[in-house]
Amino acid sequence: MERTYLMVKPDGVERGLIGEIVGRFERKGLKLVAAKLMNVSLERAERHYAEHKGKDFYERLLQFITAGPVFAMVWEGDQAVGLTRAMIGKTNALEAAPGTIRSDFAIHTNFNLIHGSDSPENAAREIGIFFNEEELLSYDKAIQVWI
Ligand code: PPS
Repeated sequence: MERTYLMVKPDGVERGLIGEIVGRFERKGLKLVAAKLMNVSLERAERHYAEHKGKDFYERLLQFITAGPVFAMVWEGDQAVGLTRAMIGKTNALEAAPGTIRSDFAIHTNFNLIHGSDSPENAAREIGIFFNEEELLSYDKAIQVWI
């Protein structure tokens, strides 16, 4: 069972897309194990996006992610990282496959609605930045046997 860190970015929260986005992962059959609406401090944003420091979009990215509340989540399931990345779509909305979140709702790369971990290793790192161990719930879903 794999866990991934997903985050509806400030543009998605402001546009009222939390429910739409959460619904897609629920319908897919993934399990929500943690979620909260929160403001991201600059210090947390810098830790989260550390690997992009120095890139031309880095400062803009920090400014964007700290501009308003985000909806931080941890989802669990078989191949959760890869599946959620596929459902999110490519960074640039123009290249995102039809039916993905970014293709359906985003126009600009700067405002691309959602972040998803790109590897299980990064997922573990990012979950640790945004959640405490006691916030990550462990529970059974009877329906899970069918997924
Ligand atoms: S890279 O260089 O291939 O690693 O970049 P990528 O993985 O596509 O994107 C890294 C994160 O930066 C965001 N991004 C941008 N933000 C603003 N402007 C521009 N031009 C831009 N290009 C990439 C991108 O959405 C990634 O953030 P997350 O939160 O992971 O989606």
